[in-house]
Amino acid sequence: MRLDVVFGAAAVNSADVAGRVVAVIDVLRASTSIATALDHGARSVIPLKSAEEVIRQSKSFERADVRLAGERRMLPMPGFDLGNSPREFTREVVEGRTILMSTTNGTPALVASQGARDVLVASYVNLAPVLAYLRTAARGGVDITVVCAGREKHFSREDAACAGRFVRGVMRRLAGVQPNDAAQVCALLDRHHGDRLEEMFAESEHGRALVAAGFGADLPLCAAVDAHPVVPVYVDRQIVKLGPDWER
Ligand code: MLT
Repeated sequence: MRLDVVFGAAAVNSADVAGRVVAVIDVLRASTSIATALDHGARSVIPLKSAEEVIRQSKSFERADVRLAGERRMLPMPGFDLGNSPREFTREVVEGRTILMSTTNGTPALVASQGARDVLVASYVNLAPVLAYLRTAARGGVDITVVCAGREKHFSREDAACAGRFVRGVMRRLAGVQPNDAAQVCALLDRHHGDRLEEMFAESEHGRALVAAGFGADLPLCAAVDAHPVVPVYVDRQIVKLGPDWER
């Protein structure tokens, strides 16, 4: 089976997703925040392309049942309830609510991945359960694509390193996996950084920009491996936590 990594929503084409399991990674910070929200009891997260769409869709909900969330240039959008900091997605704020979310790279990468057999949201905070899901798919011979959301439409180090962690995990003691060049390089990057994730974030452009914008406290949360062990699945235009009743 094939194990491909692609960089950025714009690079995702139908051959990368059709019939495949796709894991979308935006470590800093959309996929971390989505896993956090679902682990804290959010009913679902609906990824949307623009702030206007968030506002439009919110009108079909009771106001108390939704949270408007997202960022532009890392900052919360005017009039929204939440930005894109995982610190904001507390149980108190999200439990039982639908989150309408638009971010610069993370939500476009998710929207671009629609049409896959399954779309999962992956990050360090939900590494083990998502990896288990991917390994089951790989054992069944299903091709996998890992989409790195990136930053401002460009490559980002932290997404590539996290993709490498998944690539290495899928390939461990499994014969017949064919990684593309990007997957092989991501695996090398993960091997290079090892468990020094906060150090890696500090070296990355996005990590440095977050610190400069006052979001340095988000970095340890984004590096907290398996702190939110959920499998978020994007199905029927919304992301929900995989439960025992979700069948494939
Ligand atoms: C994005 O979707 O581009 C990011 O999650 C940006 C951010 O750090 O808020």
